[in-house]
Amino acid sequence: MKTRWSPSSWRGKPIQQVPDYPDAELLRQTEERLASFPPLVFAGEARKLKRALGNVAEGNGFLLQGGDCAESFAEHGGDNIRDFFRVFLQMAIVLTFGGAQPVVKVGRIAGQFAKPRSSPSETKDGIELPSYRGDIVNGIEFNEKSRVPDPQRQVMAYRQSAATLNLLRAFAQGGYANLSNVHKWTLGFIADSPQNERYQALANRISETMEFIEAIGIDVDNNAALRETEFFTSHEALLLGYEEALTRVDSTSGEWYTTSGHMIWIGDRTRQQDHAHVEFCRGIKNPLGLKCGPSLTPDDLLGLIDALNPENEPGRLTLIARFGAENVAEHLPKLVQAVEREGRKVVWSCDPMHGNTITANRYKTRPFDRILSEVQSFFDIHQAEGSHAGGIHVEMTGKNVTECTGGARAITAEDLSDRYHTHCDPRLNADQALELAFLVAELLKKERGEPAKRQVVNG
Ligand code: PEP
Ligand code: CO
Repeated sequence: MKTRWSPSSWRGKPIQQVPDYPDAELLRQTEERLASFPPLVFAGEARKLKRALGNVAEGNGFLLQGGDCAESFAEHGGDNIRDFFRVFLQMAIVLTFGGAQPVVKVGRIAGQFAKPRSSPSETKDGIELPSYRGDIVNGIEFNEKSRVPDPQRQVMAYRQSAATLNLLRAFAQGGYANLSNVHKWTLGFIADSPQNERYQALANRISETMEFIEAIGIDVDNNAALRETEFFTSHEALLLGYEEALTRVDSTSGEWYTTSGHMIWIGDRTRQQDHAHVEFCRGIKNPLGLKCGPSLTPDDLLGLIDALNPENEPGRLTLIARFGAENVAEHLPKLVQAVEREGRKVVWSCDPMHGNTITANRYKTRPFDRILSEVQSFFDIHQAEGSHAGGIHVEMTGKNVTECTGGARAITAEDLSDRYHTHCDPRLNADQALELAFLVAELLKKERGEPAKRQVVNG
């Protein structure tokens, strides 16, 4: 029998990945302070996202989820947010056009700070220190002082999330995302890339359509679907004290929501059914993600679905498959079969990043061809099982970084040191992100049963 849920009932459960805060009283005071701060998002927005994801679960629509592996305090600036947002919009437009279905846009942003680690400590030159757990917990600098978990960082993360969200809302609704701007979303350094030619061809078609729409008397500026976009935020709900402090009762429905972001997910390391992270997430009504890695059995998955989505509500649960290009064919089909057999309504999304990490030239990296290969297999498997390939989940940035090898610019292991800036895992740069979007658009078109290659018309 299930015990009663409350925002703090997770505290009575076993828990993984907890920072070792030396000052428990300061932690308590900080959480109390956070609990008095305004919510970052509203329950009504989370419900809107759940409805949109519900359509994806029913086979109509596609989820694009992406952003930094870890946001950082050091890289908090307007240019970064803008550059991320415009590549994200470009990807979304490529997918909308290719898939001819709505694209649900969810950033890994405005709250994606806490990181699970495979080891609690890190050793360099014979010195052992606690691992970096994300800027919301401790500092990335390799010295004793910076690695001590500091509760005040939660307040900084909250404030940074608020500022980021504020700018994202302005971009999404203030005219920047207006479809008439489709040509303006190109970044300078993409201008000479192979992706740019494809993108410009698509943007030309959209511009022509917009001119046509205006010519027949539709006022673009008075039409929300053309003038604005809906953009949602998400992060891994790892630091449960922080999440609890931002969990509030929604006055409209009387239900609990975390107001730290629209959607939260449970990581692959913290998805034990009787543990704290599942306990916390089962009681809040936000849309949830669940990372599914190679150790997840079909029975475990069905148990987790029972716990997290007992009402079988479409849009409540997104399963984010992250097996690795070489393992996906072994693991994913049996999970899809179990979910289909039991009639569970979920969104299936593909994270082609976390199962494809290797070390090259002493850098953690991900070969672009493995990323593409996992996405391709994901689509093939869903086609074979008769289920909907519902989304992708990627680590990406709008910056011209060199963190993943390969792609049209053929970044090599030797190039990685040029612009390797990530605070955690390697991200796709803007060029690679757009290249991936074009591939997915082709796959979506194939899923729709239309001849591929129709999308890119030159001139
Ligand atoms: C992540 O998304 O950054 C992450 C840590 O993923 P996973 O839990 O799938 O390893
Ligand atoms: Co990551």
